[in-house]
Amino acid sequence: MHIDILSLFPEVFEPMLSTSIIGRARDNGLLTVACTNYRDYTHDVHRTVDDKPYGGGPGMVLKCEPVFAAVRDVESRAAVPPLRILLTPQGRRLDQPLVKELAAAQTLLLICGHYEGFDERIRLGLKPLEVSIGDYVLSGGEAAAMVLVDTVTRLLPGALGAEESVEEESFTDGLLEYPQYTRPAEFEGMRVPDVLVSGHHAEVARWRAEQRRLRTRERRPDLPAARQDG
Ligand code: ADE
Repeated sequence: MHIDILSLFPEVFEPMLSTSIIGRARDNGLLTVACTNYRDYTHDVHRTVDDKPYGGGPGMVLKCEPVFAAVRDVESRAAVPPLRILLTPQGRRLDQPLVKELAAAQTLLLICGHYEGFDERIRLGLKPLEVSIGDYVLSGGEAAAMVLVDTVTRLLPGALGAEESVEEESFTDGLLEYPQYTRPAEFEGMRVPDVLVSGHHAEVARWRAEQRRLRTRERRPDLPAARQDG
């Protein structure tokens, strides 16, 4: 997969992009990422990317010209037309099913905003898929873009080692994950459940499945899987 990220602060991405699973996916050639600054597509001495809103009001609005120019230039060099994504709190909520859809694309183009918002014609003209990472307002789309890159990367075939399977992760089948323990068997009076040290694989599996159902019902009764019998 290839991901282009357009932002006013492209330098914020590199540390996370070169660490852990994402870093390894890039080293192994499963993922390439390129970050581009809208400012490189301005033509005035001040390299202006924002302006006051028509009609008045607080804050500044990201201008059309540098965003359209950056999108067009990056896309002109893309091997296949990318799926355009605009990070915005007004978008479709990012959840694991949407992550799966995005992970199937060959190329993603992530458009990050900053300031008070975008000129509306960025949505109207570029027709991106609008994605939100939750019902709160970030100061920019960068953190949201990073969340999206992280969630998508771990679903790329080969990105996780055998020991990091996505099979039993929270949300993979709509249920939350079971509780995990490692040594020591007792810590500050808290003991690891006996079944986990029993060596009884079938019972461990049963216990884990039951814990997943209980946890989901208790913590996330809104998830459809919480209402299934069993
Ligand atoms: N930009 C600002 N807030 C955001 C959010 N919650 N999700 C995606 N992009 C955003």
